[in-house]
This record gives sequence, C-alpha cells and structure tokens, in this order.
Amino acid sequence: MLNLFHNKLTIMKHILFIIGSLRKNSFNRQLASIAEDLLKDRFNISYLDFSDIPYMNQDLESQQEHMTTSQQAVFRVRQEVLKADGIWIFTPEYNQSYPGLLKNLFDWLSRPMDVTNFANPTAVQGKKVTASGAGGKNKTTYCRAKLNDLLEYIKMDVMKEPQTGIALGMEAWVKGEFKLSEEQLKELKIQAEKFKEFLEK
Ligand SMILES: Cc1cc2nc3c(=O)[nH]c(=O)nc-3n(C[C@H](O)[C@H](O)[C@H](O)COP(=O)(O)O)c2cc1C
Repeated sequence: MLNLFHNKLTIMKHILFIIGSLRKNSFNRQLASIAEDLLKDRFNISYLDFSDIPYMNQDLESQQEHMTTSQQAVFRVRQEVLKADGIWIFTPEYNQSYPGLLKNLFDWLSRPMDVTNFANPTAVQGKKVTASGAGGKNKTTYCRAKLNDLLEYIKMDVMKEPQTGIALGMEAWVKGEFKLSEEQLKELKIQAEKFKEFLEK
C-alpha cells in the first residue's frame, strides 16, 4: 500500500498479526484490534488465518507433484509470513505456556521451505517479531517468556521488551469484552512505537 506524506511517496511496511486463540470473542483478537487502530495509518496490517494447517507430520513435508489441500495451507501460510516485514503475536496463556496451536504453527514455520536440503531457508528466519497477551493475573508473563525462547530458537529477531501483558478482570468475562485502562493503553502504545523503530533498524 502506498502512503503520500509530505509529498513523499513511501511504501507502507506490512505487519502480520497472529492470534493464538480460535475463540470467536477472543480477548486477544480484541487486543489486536486495538493495536491495529494504533498502527493502521502507518502500516499495512493483516491477520494470518492458519486455522486450516494440519498437525505437524513429517510425512506431509515430502514434495510431490501435486500438493494436497493441507500442504497448500502450509504453503499459503509460509508465503504470507515471507511477505511480512514484521509479525505481532497476541496470545492467551495456557498452563503457563503458549497454546498448542501456536507451537504447531511455528513448528511448521521452523522447517526449510524446500526440505531437500536442511540448509535451505525457512519462512521465519531473521523475521522481526514481538508478542503481547491477555490472560489471567500473571498477565501472560510465563507464556511470553517461553514463546520468546521458541521464536529465538527458530532464529527470529525477537523484540522481548517492551511487551504488553493484560490481566483480564472478571468484568471482561461477564461482558465478553474488555476495555484497556489508560495505563494498559499507554503500554500498548509504547510497544507499538518501539516495534515501529525495531522494524526500521
Ligand atoms: C487450557 C487452558 C489453560 C489455561 N491456563 C492459564 C494459565 O496458565 N494462565 C492464565 O493466565 N490463564 C490461563 N487460562 C485462561 C486463559 O488465559 C484465558 O482463557 C484467555 O485469556 C482467553 O483468551 P482469548 O479470549 O483470547 O481466548 C487457561 C485457559 C485454558 C483454556
């Protein structure tokens, strides 16, 4: 997408949002939508749909003449990741870690796109990434610490600080939605600004 600013033609960078919850009224999706509002005048934002990728199975990695539907889903997801300048993950905490669906996604993304040689590039190596989360009283701290480790292990360029962690109140569960306090919104804005700088490095 093109952006005309001060008579200068610039190409807007693209941030891909990944949500670690499939829940229809996901609080993490709501958090992503607030972050999108903070960034959309300066970045092209899109959401990764990876609900159709299969569980990791090395049998599915072998290359055939015609890709199956699930192989096509993995191919599409890798292409979307490749195109992005940066990735922002919004995730709940499950049992003091990140949800299995994110582990499955990053297991697929950690593999070389062409498995005939393991020195071949993956879709994520060197890709800039950050994470935020809405969860219980730990503010997703354990989840994001483990997620940061995973992302670094697969050679992504991780912005570990600052990251926004939200402790959801009972009111959120009663209403099915939540509002950020001024302090939380400030935290999210700081993360958005720092991620913008991180993408420019
Ligand atoms: C299997 C499971 C385990 C959970 N474990 C934790 C946990 O360890 N810490 C925590 O803060 N919340 C935990 N929760 C609550 C989730 O963090 C909460 O449901 C989440 O904020 C919902 O996010 P979403 O609305 O984006 O789906 C758990 C929820 C599930 C389903």
